[in-house]
Amino acid sequence: MVNDFEVSTSILSLKKGEENSAFLELEAAKTDYFHIDVMDGKFVEKDTYQKMLEYAAYIRRISNLPLDVHLMVEDVKSAINDFLAVEPNIITFHLEACKNKEEVYEMIKYIKQNNCKVGISIKPNTKIEEIYEFLPLIHMCLVMTVEPGKGGQTLLIDMVEKISTLRKYVDKNDIDIDIEADGGINLNTADKVKEAGANILVAGTAILMAKDYSVIIKELKKGVFGDRP
Ligand code: DX5
Ligand code: ZN
Repeated sequence: MVNDFEVSTSILSLKKGEENSAFLELEAAKTDYFHIDVMDGKFVEKDTYQKMLEYAAYIRRISNLPLDVHLMVEDVKSAINDFLAVEPNIITFHLEACKNKEEVYEMIKYIKQNNCKVGISIKPNTKIEEIYEFLPLIHMCLVMTVEPGKGGQTLLIDMVEKISTLRKYVDKNDIDIDIEADGGINLNTADKVKEAGANILVAGTAILMAKDYSVIIKELKKGVFGDRP
């Protein structure tokens, strides 16, 4: 049963020069995680790799908040190695970045061997069933509610149904796993993904453009009317 909701703030769209104050303000505003969007310019067009490595290392020095690392990269193994250095709470890689199932199992094992939680992310066009066999082995499934690659996009409404299918499947099969919705989450879309069964919400633009981070983060965490029993 899912009782409370958590917020993972994506720092992708932070404005230059505002980073350091924003990290401290976000911690004070009670974000549960910092969501580190790692892009290699190959799996997705943008390259944020070095910037995210620096941000994550800086956050690690000033805050104890958990880092929720989202790898949108082709070379998963080397990105895992690079980001293990910043002691993340969880490392999430894309199912679509793995050539075959053996590689998925290998990445899961490797992240766990390095004492880090494991997440797998799926793009909007990837069928939810493709992730089922890995669910008992991982801590979180990150359902992309936009095409990966940039912030500020509109949530793809079909993804709500996908989250609901996943939540029903894990509840039915007693799989204790977090479901994270990522992309286009704001005060208009949050309730939909929460009702569907996401318990961790990633938000970047909606939080970073708010004048008071704590107000929006509090709103995003609120239970929804008609919570599942
Ligand atoms: C997109 C990233 C998301 C995105 C979220 O590829 O994985 O985390 O930055 O940003 P918003 O909330 O602006 O959609
Ligand atoms: Zn992300």
